[in-house]
Amino acid sequence: MTRNPLKAEIHCHIEGAAPPALAAAQASRYGVDTSHILRDGAYVWSDFSEFLVCYDAVAALFKTAEDYALLTETYLNELAAANTIYSEIIVSPDHGDRIGLGADAYLAGISDGIRAAREKTGIEARIIVTGERHFGPDRVISAAEYAARAGNPLVTGFNMAGEERMGRVGDYARAFDIARDAGLGLTIHAGEVCGAFSVSDALDLVRPSRIGHGVRAIEDPAVVERLVELGTVLEVCPGSNIALKVFPDFESHPLKVLRAAGVRVCLNSDDPPFFHTSLEREYEIASGEMRLSDDEIDAMTRTALEAAFVDEETRARLL
Ligand code: HPA
Ligand code: ZN
Repeated sequence: MTRNPLKAEIHCHIEGAAPPALAAAQASRYGVDTSHILRDGAYVWSDFSEFLVCYDAVAALFKTAEDYALLTETYLNELAAANTIYSEIIVSPDHGDRIGLGADAYLAGISDGIRAAREKTGIEARIIVTGERHFGPDRVISAAEYAARAGNPLVTGFNMAGEERMGRVGDYARAFDIARDAGLGLTIHAGEVCGAFSVSDALDLVRPSRIGHGVRAIEDPAVVERLVELGTVLEVCPGSNIALKVFPDFESHPLKVLRAAGVRVCLNSDDPPFFHTSLEREYEIASGEMRLSDDEIDAMTRTALEAAFVDEETRARLL
């Protein structure tokens, strides 16, 4: 029998987890034409910019708190069925605002979905509020201010996703200062679409305990060395990186090399159906195409839990 390792992830975008069939059902319910983003049961995009456009269009198909509760519960139940005990969900209040739902109802729906899945399966989950970089510094700062005053015990972290090529990290540093002052855990997408300088900027200006992707740190040994020294955890998403052509194939993906260099890494699904993956598939890739041992795989699950933005009592129970 093939092994079914215990799993945890700390990097999955909620709208990016929408199964195409659910998106299609939402579209027909609301009478939205999705021929430009959904074809033959799959999302349609060809590069990172198009992916972001497709993502925003899919997000717009979820219009009520109940829609978001259903999406969240569907995703977490599926994770739990694949032996996953913990998930951190990246959510963007701007997406709630954009469809006229509002950030409070958006967050309430996602929180309801988390509670429903926990009751049904026991899976633990937390919410990371994110600013979308391509919406500009003001929106990212607003997202941080929102996260800081959300008063929702499930909101434990702050992130920045979106178009990494827009502006420099310093333009967004104030958002992270606000989130840090509010006691939120910090992580930031860097070193995915841009090179090692982006990781270096993030370390200098945001001082996060984790970095989303960060894999292009491999282009500069000095940046890899800094990650090792700081103990920064990379939320690695191999399937996403291959789908977005950050690396040509799993053989040339740097996960194994970064790990061997002493960088703390864990496995994540990012936007699973957009990238034709799942957390289960990421674990299979790590042990299959990437040839990591069972011990190395289990160590990555532990790293995810060690790096999780969760209270110490819950962490101790999960570890
Ligand atoms: N990178 C940046 N922004 C994103 C991603 C990603 O992989 N997924 C959803 N928003
Ligand atoms: Zn991401």
